[in-house]
Amino acid sequence: MAETMNALDLLARDHREVEDLFTQYEATTDTERKTEIAHQVVHDLAVHGEIEELRFYPRLREVLDNGDALADEAIEEHLAIKNTLNDLDSMTAEDDGFDDRMRELMAEVRHHVQEEEGELFTGLRQALDEEELQTLGEKLERARSMVPTRPHPGAPTSPGAKAAASPPVALIDRIRDAIRNAGD
Ligand SMILES: [Fe+2]
Repeated sequence: MAETMNALDLLARDHREVEDLFTQYEATTDTERKTEIAHQVVHDLAVHGEIEELRFYPRLREVLDNGDALADEAIEEHLAIKNTLNDLDSMTAEDDGFDDRMRELMAEVRHHVQEEEGELFTGLRQALDEEELQTLGEKLERARSMVPTRPHPGAPTSPGAKAAASPPVALIDRIRDAIRNAGD
């Protein structure tokens, strides 16, 4: 892939893609399309959150003085997001409260993105050079194909515990994705 693997660019690109899906959601009244967009958002954010927890926050803890505090806060925000994603995952736009959940998600994600791209990205940009950011980006990209693709609010957030718990979950998620995609 010719694209940059700079970790911060890669995560920011994920953020822009989800924001774009939010914009598409807000622009449609078609319930089938709304469901489709929401389930894409669920998938994309589940994967994004997993790779951050697995590879990004641990690095943050290593290199920033306040890395532990920043990572803990981000993981707490992830939990709120995962809970909302989990609700949306089992709903369709025909269900009562779907729009409300989606609006809640947008607010949570916009807040999280702002925090992440602010203090957190700024700190890492100062602490790591371009080569280190590239290496981290490559690790994030590699993790993408291995992590669970659905929200699991009760699952462990530390890399060690994930290594043990995630693989079977990731496999089942991909089977569920295949079934859902076949139905769409
Ligand atoms: Fe993020």
